Amino acid sequence: MRLLVNIDHIATLRNARGEGYPDPVEGARVCEEAGAAGIVFHLRGDRRHIRDEDVRNLKVNVNGILDFEMAATEEMIGICLETDPHLCTLVPEGREELTTEGGLNMEYVFDDYKNRVFPKFKETGIEISLFLDPNPRDIELAHKLGADAIELHTGNFANAASKEAKLKELKRLVKGSELIHEAGMAVNAGHGLNLENLPILIKEVPHLREVSIGHALISQSIYWGLEKTVKAYLSLMDAE
Ligand code: PXP
Repeated sequence: MRLLVNIDHIATLRNARGEGYPDPVEGARVCEEAGAAGIVFHLRGDRRHIRDEDVRNLKVNVNGILDFEMAATEEMIGICLETDPHLCTLVPEGREELTTEGGLNMEYVFDDYKNRVFPKFKETGIEISLFLDPNPRDIELAHKLGADAIELHTGNFANAASKEAKLKELKRLVKGSELIHEAGMAVNAGHGLNLENLPILIKEVPHLREVSIGHALISQSIYWGLEKTVKAYLSLMDAE
């Protein structure tokens, strides 16, 4: 299983003072040197963290997997095609949200993705991953569209208020992962993952190809340093 580190919040910290540091590209380099398989960034319409020049610099400097997370707007599709990352993860994006709040509603986006979005990626070699809640109907429609991978939204699992709710969500993730795998798509997972809940997820959910982790990892690195924190995640993943 691969660890992809989301470096958005290194840019959040940089932007808080309008200085050139900390540099998300330098952060990406440290993560890769520590053993991360790749880097994720979310270029939002409002550019609240990652900026266009970061994308260009990440493309040149990241050696492993580059995952471009974005909303499927015309603007973002244009930048993504120019950037040519390994993977494009499509997410819903709300202007007021603090972070991505849930998976795509496939019934809602299906026709638009089929007619406008997916044709633009055809024959580009960029893998398309859709960020979904573990709903069988959403997974079925993603498969029908020809998605290469699904990133399962783990936020409800991570933030469940009770043990029962956590277990219930974990079961949904297990079922969702099995459906994705059976349909021949790769299984990714992300949102709200940390050193505490990741071992449970990895132990219970089969077929995971990669996890995408940002906020908790970057936060922990303030105390431990980025290299040590990435290594802690990796050794935890190795142990499971
Ligand atoms: N995956 C997706 C699709 C996301 O939108 C995010 C948040 O940017 C993450 C993973 C990482 O979530 P977190 O920052 O909670 O680790």
